[in-house]
Amino acid sequence: MEETLVSAHHALPVDAASAERVAVGGLSLRRLRGDDRDEFTAWHRAVARGFLDAEPTDIQRDAAFDRLGYRRLIAVLDPAAPEPEVPVATFASWVGRLSVPGGEMPSCAISSVTVSPTHRRRGLARAMMEGELRTAAAHGLPIASLTVSESTLYGRYGFAPAAEAATLRLEVKRADWIGPVPSGRVDFVSRERWRELAPELFERVRATRAGEFEMPDGHWDRFAGTEPGAERPGAIRAVQYADAGGDVRGLAVYKVQENHDDFTKSTVEIGYLLADGDDAYAGLWRYFVELDLVGEVRASELSVDEPLLWMISDRRAATVTLVDHHYVRVLDVPAALAARSYSAPGRFALDVHDPLGLTGGRVVLTVDARGAATVTADADVDAVPVRLGVAEFSALLLGQVSAVTLAAAGRLESQDPAALARTFGWSRPARLSYWY
Ligand SMILES: CC(C)(COP(=O)(O)OP(=O)(O)OC[C@H]1O[C@@H](n2cnc3c(N)ncnc32)[C@H](O)[C@@H]1OP(=O)(O)O)[C@@H](O)C(=O)NCCC(=O)NCCS
Repeated sequence: MEETLVSAHHALPVDAASAERVAVGGLSLRRLRGDDRDEFTAWHRAVARGFLDAEPTDIQRDAAFDRLGYRRLIAVLDPAAPEPEVPVATFASWVGRLSVPGGEMPSCAISSVTVSPTHRRRGLARAMMEGELRTAAAHGLPIASLTVSESTLYGRYGFAPAAEAATLRLEVKRADWIGPVPSGRVDFVSRERWRELAPELFERVRATRAGEFEMPDGHWDRFAGTEPGAERPGAIRAVQYADAGGDVRGLAVYKVQENHDDFTKSTVEIGYLLADGDDAYAGLWRYFVELDLVGEVRASELSVDEPLLWMISDRRAATVTLVDHHYVRVLDVPAALAARSYSAPGRFALDVHDPLGLTGGRVVLTVDARGAATVTADADVDAVPVRLGVAEFSALLLGQVSAVTLAAAGRLESQDPAALARTFGWSRPARLSYWY
């Protein structure tokens, strides 16, 4: 990924149209420098309040300052408020690598979107989002992505839930292990050691899994409980899986909640499980399925198609709930099409409608027998015509939802959605294993 794409994004000016819209209400839209501690502290307090959290402690504030400085931070300020330095709206974005089927692309990741309850429903969130999407698109970023507090918020800007996530509750006493016997071993490691091992292993896994996004700074410390000011870090247990050759191929962190009424029914909450390959996956899950004194194991942000469900003797020992999770929004249709591989050859004339006018129009996608794409602007009589909105196009890009499903839902028009589904489908469902 081009370094300038990343670093220059940080310092781009705010969108003039959005600044004007906000100014009508006597407010000002600003980009923060990111290296001013007081300014950051006020912004961070506003984010915490927006998400209904307590006031950050000094330790948490300093840790956040060290961790989030690389992000592009946006604030709306109200000079008439009693604390004019505390923003009434916040927004953050940064550029990272998003995995797509067979490849990856730079994405404008978005987080920390809040509007103070004192200033809600006056269009501030819309002004920030539209302005920042325009800025990202003009900068050449081909896609934007986020995870959401409410699923009703972002469809209006062209985002779609492209990678769903599964939440799992497993009654382990019903679930005998019938999966493969792993060749390696599971061992406890210190949380600090786990923290050291995780980034490289994750990058190996991320490269093979559409929907994953480069792990933001600070997340590993949060999983491992190694960040300053972590609450009860000692409750976190860390294990590694090493294969028969001694290479660490898997990592997991978890907490145990004891059941004082019945000591055989404690609950295990897996904070993060990372497996590089089938053997590591079996090794770690077998460990959790066979724990003594445990009644239930819980995990979330899993794939919608976990092999684990085929590795236990009683399928109904597992309760799986699906939720929308990773939302993406294409900002450059031809660049997005060219970034991924495809599962079957085909030729499609895609008419993508973008209500914000950031991308869209007619493009022709030709996929050869190896799954490689050529994207042209020509009108083409041989190509299968497809009409769809930018949100539906964004969902198709990650390969999880079938074009047949979207057509049945009235969300795309094509005479041959099955052909589109064969080309855009992917062998493994998209997954994002965390929140950001
Ligand atoms: C969600 C939030 C940012 C919205 O801010 P806001 O300034 O009130 O939103 P706007 O006035 O710009 O509204 C923009 C559009 O979103 C809609 N909208 C806003 N909040 C909504 C909600 N909670 N549910 C459904 N629609 C909502 C508005 O009706 C408006 O629709 P329209 O322009 O298409 O007619 C704000 O309520 C908030 O801070 N919530 C708590 C923190 C949070 O959940 N942030 C999102 C993190 S992913």
